[in-house]
Amino acid sequence: MLATSILLFALAAVGLADVPAGYKTVYLTSKVDAKLAIVPKTAVAGSIIQVQTLASTPAQQWYLKEGNSSIQLAGSTLCLDGGAKSNWKDMGSVVVETCDATSVSQVWNVMADGRIALAPSSPQECLDLQYMKDAPGTTVGIYSCAGLNNVGAADKGINWPQVAVNATAV
Ligand SMILES: *[C@@H]1O[C@H](CO)[C@@H](O)[C@H](O)[C@H]1NC(C)=O
Ligand SMILES: *[C@@H]1O[C@H](CO)[C@@H](O)[C@H](O)[C@H]1NC(C)=O
Repeated sequence: MLATSILLFALAAVGLADVPAGYKTVYLTSKVDAKLAIVPKTAVAGSIIQVQTLASTPAQQWYLKEGNSSIQLAGSTLCLDGGAKSNWKDMGSVVVETCDATSVSQVWNVMADGRIALAPSSPQECLDLQYMKDAPGTTVGIYSCAGLNNVGAADKGINWPQVAVNATAV
């Protein structure tokens, strides 16, 4: 009985942290190395993002959908945020901030080819594994969606294959 009450309370409390309608839960792995996945450096507002070794834990999962989408850390109220417009340039940083449906810097265009663009940026800036460094702890920022040498999604540093998480496997 006590356990049930605690569970119900917990479920009510995390309502905002649930998967938004029409969104899926995925790991965002790197095309540079499928064993690396995007995570916040720390799961608090203002933290930069980086890659860590894929551990298949909820702390590495994100809610998103194809097209213009927020990218929300699973079970949290934190969303990827491209910051101020002055930051929307090559090597700009990306942080997690409290999800805000009115914030344009939290709208990402999740493309079918693996690129993830900051929707309002022009020219388009995409999530980027800085210096394509194949190592846990490497910062993820933004870089031109055109990619190095204009190869687009063939630039592995800006390509993030999604790995699906089964909804029931919580
Ligand atoms: C996606 O977001 C961009 C930038 O905010 C906007 O210009 C575009 O119209 C949006 N596209 C769709 C399909 O909503
Ligand atoms: C997810 O579910 C599908 C279908 O039931 C199964 O084939 C797959 O192995 C599961 N994946 C994981 C990571 O559990």
